[in-house]
Amino acid sequence: LHIAVLMGGWANERPVSLMSGKGVADALESRGHKVTRIDMDRQVAARIAEAAPDIVFNALHGVPGEDGTVQGMLDLMGVPYTHSGLATSVIAIDKELTKQALVPAGIPMPGGRIVQTAELYEKDPLPRPYVLKPVNEGSSVGVAIVTDESNYGNPIQRDAKGPWQQFDHLLAEPFIKGRELTTAVIDGEGGPRALTVTELVPKSGFYDFDAKYTDGMTDHICPAEIPDNIAQLCCEYAVRAHKVLGCKGTSRTDFRWDDELGEDGLFVLETNTQPGMTPLSLVPEQAKYCGMEYADLVETIVEEALR
Ligand code: DAL
Ligand code: MG
Repeated sequence: LHIAVLMGGWANERPVSLMSGKGVADALESRGHKVTRIDMDRQVAARIAEAAPDIVFNALHGVPGEDGTVQGMLDLMGVPYTHSGLATSVIAIDKELTKQALVPAGIPMPGGRIVQTAELYEKDPLPRPYVLKPVNEGSSVGVAIVTDESNYGNPIQRDAKGPWQQFDHLLAEPFIKGRELTTAVIDGEGGPRALTVTELVPKSGFYDFDAKYTDGMTDHICPAEIPDNIAQLCCEYAVRAHKVLGCKGTSRTDFRWDDELGEDGLFVLETNTQPGMTPLSLVPEQAKYCGMEYADLVETIVEEALR
C-alpha cells in the first residue's frame, strides 16, 4: 500500500505527534509499504492530493488533527483514513461533550463544570482540591491541580502563574485521589476489544507532560496490580465508551481510581481517539503484552480503516 503518515502540525502536542508519526512510518516501511511522511501545514490538502496515497494514517494529536478538522477534510477528498471519523472526533476531543455522551450510558465520570477563566479570580469554582483543564488538549497540556496548599492563592490570584491563563474557559473537576489507570481498545473482526489495564505511577506524583514523555519518569505497571473486578470494569467501560462515541481502529480510555472506595471509586476521565504511538506510549505497550508487536498494531489499524 501507499500510506501517507500525517503528523506534526501546529497543535500543542506537535512534538508528541512527530514521535508517533516517526514510529508509525518506520514500522510501515519495515513491512514493505510505500510511505509518504507529511508534516501538516496549511497546504496539507494539496500535498495529500499530490501524493495520492491509498490511505492516510492519522498520527496527529490535539487540535487540529484529533478534533474532526482533518477528518472532515479527508471525507471531502474521498481519501480513507485511520482512527475515528468526523463526528466522533468532534465529541471526543471535548472533555465536556464526552461527559454528556458517556454519563447517560452509565459510565461514571467526575462531576464539575465549565468555568470562564476570569471567574477563577473571584471564587473557587469547586471545593479544593480540584483540577483545572482545557476542554480540548491532550498529554496534560494546560492541566493544573489546585490544592489547599497551592501557592496560586485562594482564590487564585490574577497574577499567579498557571497554565489556565492561556485559555478563556476550562473544565473544573474534583480531584480524585488514588491511582491512574488506562485501557486500550482495538477494533477487530469480532468487534472492539479491550487489551488490558496499565497503572501509571509517576515518580513526581503527577502524570504530567514531562512524566508522560521522559523515559524513567513514570513506572508503567502492565498489567496493573488491581483486583479483578476493577480491571474488568475498566475493560467494560473502555469498550462501552469506544462504542458509544463511535470510535474506530483504536481508542484509549483513562481513569482515576480511589482504591479506598472500591468499584464506586472508579471514574473515567476521557477517551482518546488518537492515542499516542511513541516508544513510551500505552497502546503499543498493552498490544505488546497481548502478543502484538508495534508493527502488527500499526498494520491492524490500517486494515481496520480499509475494512
Ligand atoms: N494525547 C496523547 C497523545 C495520548 O492520549 O496518548
Ligand atoms: Mg487525552
